[in-house]
Amino acid sequence: MKGIILAGGAGSRLFPLTLVASKQLQPVYDKPMVYYPLTTLIEGGIREFCLISTPHDLPRFKQLLGDGKAWGLSIEYREQAKPEGIAQAFLIAESFIGNDAVTLILGDNIFYGGDTFQKAFGEFNGGATIFGYHVTDPERYGVVDFDAQGRAISIEEKPKQPKSNYAVPGLYIFDNQVVALTKAMKPSARGELEITDLNMEYLRRGQLRVQTLNRGFAWLDAGTSSSLFDASAYVQTIEKRQGVKIGCPEEAAFRQNFLSQPQLDALTARLPKCEYRAYLEEIVAEAKRLKKQV
Ligand code: DAU
Repeated sequence: MKGIILAGGAGSRLFPLTLVASKQLQPVYDKPMVYYPLTTLIEGGIREFCLISTPHDLPRFKQLLGDGKAWGLSIEYREQAKPEGIAQAFLIAESFIGNDAVTLILGDNIFYGGDTFQKAFGEFNGGATIFGYHVTDPERYGVVDFDAQGRAISIEEKPKQPKSNYAVPGLYIFDNQVVALTKAMKPSARGELEITDLNMEYLRRGQLRVQTLNRGFAWLDAGTSSSLFDASAYVQTIEKRQGVKIGCPEEAAFRQNFLSQPQLDALTARLPKCEYRAYLEEIVAEAKRLKKQV
């Protein structure tokens, strides 16, 4: 399974914050926003990434994440010249996807808790898998409706009168048909290749699985100044209380065995003295201590 991180768009709702740095580079408490979706996919066992952004912002992402080798990953980059829809990512990343299945995560979606995605990646065997999350304001999202047996029957993009409270979060898993199906799509009235239309096509074919995310799961969207602030407060609360970080790619790569303990040790030593480095040092020290016990 390959991973696409879609991190383009104008970021106009966050202006003037986004005048110089794009939305997905803004801080969410103690890390750049893009660290969170990247970590979510690493935790799911994904190692090969393609990050898509605007020609203007791409150099900054490259500066931040490089080719991924230092974290045991591979990261490629592609440009989206204009924000012509989330589904356009599959056309832009066609050569990256090759013959594989692919998951796409939006660069401003923050997830925390449980192993639902990890399991979904592991169990994926074709078609498409998307998720449903109960929210108070479904009209802001793609909304999925279910029948009495819990089967998805419709998905609507930002409906004025939502048929349910289940929003579709920005993490989607598709089989290799996705490129051909996207090629056959027409832009919507607002000129975009809509992810909801693509999901509907899988639904029409009887190949869409919708999994609901349970109550213990947090999905935060950091698209407005207020939700960005809320996301920071949430991350700070959990990190202070538990002493564990959310959205730390180095830690996730280490726990997935993409990085060995000496490799983590070496990359930590290259960081400036800061709280982030101290956190990684603790992880290395703990790993050394456990090794000694064996
Ligand atoms: O957050 C989940 C929601 O994301 C879904 O429930 C909706 O079905 C889906 O359409 C999307 O809704 P948004 O209103 O959040 O879409 P937006 O246009 O704001 O784009 C989401 C992110 O993707 C945003 O960070 C910018 C990026 N993006 C978007 C488009 C359309 C791109 O990089 N390129 C694009 O062409």
